[in-house]
Amino acid sequence: MSSLDRFSFVVAANCNAHNPSPFRDPPEGHRSHCHAYRTEEFAIPKLPRRLEGHVTIVTGASSGIGLSVASAFAAAGSAVVVNYRSHPAPALQLADQIRSNGGKCAAIQADVSNEEDVVRLFDTATDAFGRIDILVSNSGVQRDASITDMTLADWNTVIDINLTGQFLCCREAVRRFNSQPAHSRPSRSSGAIIAMSSVHEIIPWAGHINYASAKGGVRMLTRSLAQEVASQGIRVNAIAPGAIRTPINKDAWETPEALEKLLRLIPYGRIGEPEDVANAAIWLASDEADYVTGTTLFVDGGMALYPEFRDNG
Ligand code: BGC
Repeated sequence: MSSLDRFSFVVAANCNAHNPSPFRDPPEGHRSHCHAYRTEEFAIPKLPRRLEGHVTIVTGASSGIGLSVASAFAAAGSAVVVNYRSHPAPALQLADQIRSNGGKCAAIQADVSNEEDVVRLFDTATDAFGRIDILVSNSGVQRDASITDMTLADWNTVIDINLTGQFLCCREAVRRFNSQPAHSRPSRSSGAIIAMSSVHEIIPWAGHINYASAKGGVRMLTRSLAQEVASQGIRVNAIAPGAIRTPINKDAWETPEALEKLLRLIPYGRIGEPEDVANAAIWLASDEADYVTGTTLFVDGGMALYPEFRDNG
Protein backbone atom coordinates (compact mmCIF):
# COMPACT_ATOMS: atom_id res chain seq x y z
CA MET A 1 0.00 0.00 0.00
CA SER A 2 1.32 3.48 -0.83
CA SER A 3 2.40 5.66 2.07
CA LEU A 4 1.08 8.71 0.28
CA ASP A 5 -2.48 9.87 -0.20
CA ARG A 6 -3.30 12.24 -3.01
CA PHE A 7 -5.61 15.17 -2.35
CA SER A 8 -6.93 17.76 -4.78
CA PHE A 9 -7.29 21.33 -3.65
CA VAL A 10 -8.64 24.28 -5.53
CA VAL A 11 -5.96 26.91 -5.08
CA ALA A 12 -6.67 30.61 -5.17
CA ALA A 13 -3.85 31.38 -7.59
CA ASN A 14 -3.82 35.18 -7.66
CA CYS A 15 -4.72 35.95 -4.06
CA ASN A 16 -1.11 36.13 -3.11
CA ALA A 17 1.28 34.67 -5.62
CA HIS A 18 3.90 33.93 -2.97
CA ASN A 19 1.60 32.32 -0.52
CA PRO A 20 -1.48 30.82 -2.19
CA SER A 21 -3.92 29.52 0.35
CA PRO A 22 -5.36 26.09 -0.34
CA PHE A 23 -9.11 26.16 0.10
CA ARG A 24 -10.87 22.89 -0.37
CA ASP A 25 -13.80 23.74 -2.63
CA PRO A 26 -13.93 27.47 -1.80
CA PRO A 27 -17.43 28.93 -1.79
CA GLU A 28 -18.45 31.53 -4.31
CA GLY A 29 -18.11 34.33 -1.78
CA HIS A 30 -14.49 33.50 -1.25
CA ARG A 31 -13.68 33.12 -4.91
CA SER A 32 -14.73 36.67 -5.68
CA HIS A 33 -11.66 37.96 -3.78
CA CYS A 34 -9.33 36.34 -6.28
CA HIS A 35 -8.87 36.38 -10.04
CA ALA A 36 -8.20 32.78 -10.95
CA TYR A 37 -8.19 29.29 -9.58
CA ARG A 38 -6.34 26.14 -10.40
CA THR A 39 -6.73 22.63 -9.12
CA GLU A 40 -3.59 21.10 -7.68
CA GLU A 41 -2.84 17.65 -6.43
CA PHE A 42 -0.83 17.28 -3.27
CA ALA A 43 0.73 14.09 -2.06
CA ILE A 44 0.31 13.94 1.70
CA PRO A 45 2.02 11.26 3.76
CA LYS A 46 -0.43 8.91 5.43
CA LEU A 47 -0.65 9.52 9.16
CA PRO A 48 1.62 7.24 11.11
CA ARG A 49 -0.01 4.86 13.57
CA ARG A 50 0.63 7.27 16.41
CA LEU A 51 -1.62 5.48 18.88
CA GLU A 52 -0.36 1.93 18.43
CA GLY A 53 -0.81 -0.08 21.65
CA HIS A 54 -3.16 2.44 23.27
CA VAL A 55 -6.69 1.85 24.51
CA THR A 56 -9.19 4.68 23.99
CA ILE A 57 -12.75 5.22 25.18
CA VAL A 58 -14.76 7.55 22.96
CA THR A 59 -18.11 8.53 24.44
CA GLY A 60 -21.04 9.42 22.20
CA ALA A 61 -19.41 7.59 19.32
CA SER A 62 -22.50 6.44 17.44
CA SER A 63 -22.67 9.55 15.25
CA GLY A 64 -21.01 12.75 14.12
CA ILE A 65 -17.69 13.79 15.63
CA GLY A 66 -17.52 10.83 18.07
CA LEU A 67 -17.93 8.31 15.28
CA SER A 68 -15.23 9.94 13.22
CA VAL A 69 -12.84 10.15 16.19
CA ALA A 70 -13.40 6.47 17.03
CA SER A 71 -12.72 5.37 13.49
CA ALA A 72 -9.63 7.62 13.14
CA PHE A 73 -8.19 6.40 16.45
CA ALA A 74 -8.60 2.80 15.30
CA ALA A 75 -6.80 3.70 12.06
CA ALA A 76 -4.04 5.26 14.19
CA GLY A 77 -3.55 1.90 15.92
CA SER A 78 -5.56 2.31 19.15
CA ALA A 79 -7.99 -0.26 20.50
CA VAL A 80 -11.26 1.65 20.71
CA VAL A 81 -14.30 1.48 22.94
CA VAL A 82 -17.23 2.93 21.03
CA ASN A 83 -19.69 4.17 23.61
CA TYR A 84 -23.29 4.90 22.70
CA ARG A 85 -26.38 5.75 24.73
CA SER A 86 -29.46 5.01 22.65
CA HIS A 87 -28.45 4.18 19.06
CA PRO A 88 -26.74 0.78 19.01
CA ALA A 89 -26.89 0.15 15.25
CA PRO A 90 -24.23 2.62 14.03
CA ALA A 91 -21.97 1.85 17.00
CA LEU A 92 -22.14 -1.91 16.38
CA GLN A 93 -21.60 -1.38 12.67
CA LEU A 94 -18.52 0.76 13.32
CA ALA A 95 -17.15 -1.84 15.75
CA ASP A 96 -17.60 -4.58 13.11
CA GLN A 97 -15.92 -2.45 10.51
CA ILE A 98 -12.91 -1.71 12.74
CA ARG A 99 -12.55 -5.40 13.64
CA SER A 100 -12.80 -6.49 10.03
CA ASN A 101 -9.97 -4.05 9.22
CA GLY A 102 -7.83 -5.83 11.81
CA GLY A 103 -8.42 -3.35 14.65
CA LYS A 104 -9.61 -3.92 18.20
CA CYS A 105 -12.99 -2.52 19.14
CA ALA A 106 -15.91 -3.00 21.51
CA ALA A 107 -19.23 -1.14 21.43
CA ILE A 108 -20.57 -0.50 24.93
CA GLN A 109 -23.87 1.11 25.92
CA ALA A 110 -23.76 3.62 28.78
CA ASP A 111 -25.41 6.91 29.66
CA VAL A 112 -22.55 9.25 30.62
CA SER A 113 -24.79 11.22 32.97
CA ASN A 114 -25.40 8.10 35.08
CA GLU A 115 -22.70 7.35 37.65
CA GLU A 116 -23.19 3.56 37.66
CA ASP A 117 -23.23 3.41 33.88
CA VAL A 118 -19.92 5.26 33.69
CA VAL A 119 -18.24 2.89 36.18
CA ARG A 120 -19.61 -0.08 34.20
CA LEU A 121 -18.34 1.44 30.94
CA PHE A 122 -14.80 1.68 32.30
CA ASP A 123 -15.00 -1.78 33.96
CA THR A 124 -16.16 -3.42 30.73
CA ALA A 125 -13.53 -1.59 28.70
CA THR A 126 -10.78 -2.67 31.12
CA ASP A 127 -12.02 -6.27 31.03
CA ALA A 128 -11.94 -6.19 27.24
CA PHE A 129 -8.55 -4.53 26.67
CA GLY A 130 -6.68 -4.65 29.97
CA ARG A 131 -6.20 -0.90 30.50
CA ILE A 132 -7.34 2.59 29.49
CA ASP A 133 -4.90 5.19 28.11
CA ILE A 134 -7.08 7.84 26.50
CA LEU A 135 -10.54 9.22 27.13
CA VAL A 136 -12.26 11.28 24.45
CA SER A 137 -15.18 12.64 26.40
CA ASN A 138 -17.39 13.60 23.51
CA SER A 139 -21.06 12.94 24.34
CA GLY A 140 -23.19 16.02 23.89
CA VAL A 141 -26.72 17.09 23.04
CA GLN A 142 -28.60 20.28 22.28
CA ARG A 143 -32.08 21.24 23.55
CA ASP A 144 -32.43 24.72 22.10
CA ALA A 145 -35.00 27.27 23.27
CA SER A 146 -35.22 30.91 24.27
CA ILE A 147 -34.96 31.49 28.02
CA THR A 148 -38.70 32.00 28.39
CA ASP A 149 -39.48 28.71 26.65
CA MET A 150 -36.66 26.64 28.05
CA THR A 151 -37.99 23.98 30.38
CA LEU A 152 -36.11 22.78 33.42
CA ALA A 153 -35.88 19.42 31.64
CA ASP A 154 -34.16 21.12 28.64
CA TRP A 155 -31.69 22.75 31.01
CA ASN A 156 -31.05 19.63 33.11
CA THR A 157 -30.64 17.25 30.16
CA VAL A 158 -27.94 19.42 28.58
CA ILE A 159 -26.09 20.11 31.83
CA ASP A 160 -26.33 16.45 32.87
CA ILE A 161 -24.92 15.04 29.62
CA ASN A 162 -22.62 17.85 28.46
CA LEU A 163 -21.10 18.84 31.80
CA THR A 164 -21.84 16.33 34.57
CA GLY A 165 -21.17 13.52 32.07
CA GLN A 166 -17.74 15.00 31.42
CA PHE A 167 -17.06 15.15 35.15
CA LEU A 168 -18.09 11.52 35.70
CA CYS A 169 -16.03 10.23 32.76
CA CYS A 170 -12.97 12.32 33.65
CA ARG A 171 -13.12 11.19 37.28
CA GLU A 172 -13.28 7.56 36.27
CA ALA A 173 -10.47 7.98 33.74
CA VAL A 174 -8.15 9.58 36.32
CA ARG A 175 -8.91 6.80 38.81
CA ARG A 176 -8.01 4.17 36.20
CA PHE A 177 -4.91 5.99 34.92
CA ASN A 178 -3.59 6.16 38.47
CA SER A 179 -4.18 2.49 39.23
CA GLN A 180 -2.39 1.11 36.15
CA PRO A 181 1.21 -0.09 36.44
CA ALA A 182 3.64 2.52 35.12
CA HIS A 183 5.74 -0.03 33.20
CA SER A 184 2.78 -0.98 31.01
CA ARG A 185 2.26 2.53 29.58
CA PRO A 186 2.33 2.87 25.80
CA SER A 187 2.96 6.63 26.01
CA ARG A 188 5.04 9.17 27.91
CA SER A 189 2.05 10.44 29.90
CA SER A 190 0.15 8.33 32.44
CA GLY A 191 -3.02 9.05 30.49
CA ALA A 192 -4.63 11.65 28.27
CA ILE A 193 -8.09 13.17 28.40
CA ILE A 194 -9.66 15.12 25.58
CA ALA A 195 -12.90 16.86 26.47
CA MET A 196 -15.05 17.76 23.48
CA SER A 197 -15.98 21.37 24.10
CA SER A 198 -17.22 23.89 21.53
CA VAL A 199 -16.52 27.38 20.26
CA HIS A 200 -19.40 28.17 22.63
CA GLU A 201 -17.07 27.72 25.57
CA ILE A 202 -16.23 31.34 24.77
CA ILE A 203 -18.84 32.54 22.23
CA PRO A 204 -22.13 33.44 23.92
CA TRP A 205 -25.09 31.79 22.19
CA ALA A 206 -28.58 33.28 22.45
CA GLY A 207 -31.28 30.63 22.39
CA HIS A 208 -28.82 28.01 23.65
CA ILE A 209 -27.98 29.11 27.19
CA ASN A 210 -28.02 25.56 28.50
CA TYR A 211 -25.49 24.47 25.87
CA ALA A 212 -23.20 27.51 26.18
CA SER A 213 -23.29 27.29 29.98
CA ALA A 214 -22.31 23.62 29.86
CA LYS A 215 -19.45 24.29 27.42
CA GLY A 216 -18.24 27.24 29.50
CA GLY A 217 -18.16 24.75 32.38
CA VAL A 218 -16.19 22.27 30.26
CA ARG A 219 -13.58 24.97 29.66
CA MET A 220 -12.96 25.42 33.39
CA LEU A 221 -13.30 21.70 34.10
CA THR A 222 -10.51 21.07 31.59
CA ARG A 223 -8.20 23.74 32.96
CA SER A 224 -8.81 23.00 36.65
CA LEU A 225 -8.46 19.26 36.19
CA ALA A 226 -5.31 19.69 34.10
CA GLN A 227 -3.79 21.74 36.91
CA GLU A 228 -4.85 19.15 39.50
CA VAL A 229 -3.47 16.04 37.77
CA ALA A 230 -0.42 17.33 35.87
CA SER A 231 1.91 16.16 38.63
CA GLN A 232 0.43 12.67 38.20
CA GLY A 233 1.58 12.70 34.59
CA ILE A 234 -1.95 13.03 33.22
CA ARG A 235 -2.68 15.48 30.41
CA VAL A 236 -6.11 17.09 30.06
CA ASN A 237 -7.07 19.17 27.03
CA ALA A 238 -10.19 20.21 25.19
CA ILE A 239 -11.11 20.60 21.54
CA ALA A 240 -13.49 23.38 20.57
CA PRO A 241 -15.10 22.47 17.26
CA GLY A 242 -16.87 25.20 15.34
CA ALA A 243 -19.54 24.38 12.79
CA ILE A 244 -18.85 20.79 11.81
CA ARG A 245 -21.10 18.99 9.32
CA THR A 246 -22.94 16.58 11.65
CA PRO A 247 -26.57 15.75 12.43
CA ILE A 248 -26.58 18.04 15.53
CA ASN A 249 -26.48 21.21 13.39
CA LYS A 250 -28.11 19.95 10.20
CA ASP A 251 -30.41 22.98 10.06
CA ALA A 252 -27.35 25.24 9.73
CA TRP A 253 -25.93 23.61 6.56
CA GLU A 254 -28.68 21.56 4.95
CA THR A 255 -29.96 24.17 2.49
CA PRO A 256 -27.80 26.45 0.31
CA GLU A 257 -29.35 29.51 2.04
CA ALA A 258 -28.52 28.20 5.52
CA LEU A 259 -25.00 27.25 4.45
CA GLU A 260 -24.37 30.66 2.93
CA LYS A 261 -25.46 32.33 6.18
CA LEU A 262 -23.26 29.98 8.20
CA LEU A 263 -20.21 30.60 6.02
CA ARG A 264 -20.37 34.31 6.85
CA LEU A 265 -19.31 33.23 10.36
CA ILE A 266 -16.34 31.17 9.15
CA PRO A 267 -13.34 33.17 7.89
CA TYR A 268 -11.69 30.07 6.42
CA GLY A 269 -14.64 29.74 4.04
CA ARG A 270 -15.79 26.19 4.51
CA ILE A 271 -17.79 24.14 6.96
CA GLY A 272 -15.74 21.74 9.09
CA GLU A 273 -15.82 18.00 8.57
CA PRO A 274 -15.73 15.47 11.43
CA GLU A 275 -12.25 14.36 10.24
CA ASP A 276 -10.91 17.86 10.94
CA VAL A 277 -11.71 17.26 14.59
CA ALA A 278 -10.53 13.63 14.56
CA ASN A 279 -7.11 14.63 13.20
CA ALA A 280 -6.69 17.24 15.94
CA ALA A 281 -7.75 14.68 18.56
CA ILE A 282 -5.15 12.15 17.38
CA TRP A 283 -2.39 14.72 17.72
CA LEU A 284 -3.56 15.90 21.15
CA ALA A 285 -3.75 12.32 22.40
CA SER A 286 -0.36 11.34 21.03
CA ASP A 287 3.15 11.81 22.45
CA GLU A 288 3.68 14.57 19.90
CA ALA A 289 1.56 16.71 22.23
CA ASP A 290 3.28 15.46 25.38
CA TYR A 291 3.98 18.97 26.70
CA VAL A 292 0.44 20.21 26.02
CA THR A 293 -2.01 20.29 28.90
CA GLY A 294 -4.83 22.52 30.12
CA THR A 295 -5.48 24.05 26.74
CA THR A 296 -8.37 24.20 24.31
CA LEU A 297 -7.53 23.61 20.67
CA PHE A 298 -10.01 25.50 18.47
CA VAL A 299 -10.88 23.58 15.29
CA ASP A 300 -13.24 26.12 13.83
CA GLY A 301 -11.93 27.74 10.63
CA GLY A 302 -11.59 30.97 12.59
CA MET A 303 -15.18 31.13 13.85
CA ALA A 304 -14.03 32.31 17.27
CA LEU A 305 -11.99 35.17 15.78
CA TYR A 306 -14.80 37.75 15.77
CA PRO A 307 -15.40 37.40 12.00
CA GLU A 308 -17.65 40.48 12.00
CA PHE A 309 -14.47 42.56 12.36
CA ARG A 310 -12.97 41.27 9.11
CA ASP A 311 -13.92 44.44 7.31
CA ASN A 312 -12.77 46.87 10.00
CA GLY A 313 -15.81 46.38 12.22
C1 BGC B 1 -22.80 23.19 18.06
C2 BGC B 1 -23.28 23.33 16.64
C3 BGC B 1 -22.92 24.71 16.10
C4 BGC B 1 -21.47 25.03 16.35
C5 BGC B 1 -21.12 26.46 15.94
C6 BGC B 1 -21.34 23.51 18.11
O1 BGC B 1 -20.84 23.31 19.39
O2 BGC B 1 -23.06 21.86 18.50
O3 BGC B 1 -24.68 23.15 16.59
O4 BGC B 1 -23.17 24.74 14.71
O5 BGC B 1 -21.15 24.85 17.70
O6 BGC B 1 -22.08 27.38 16.37
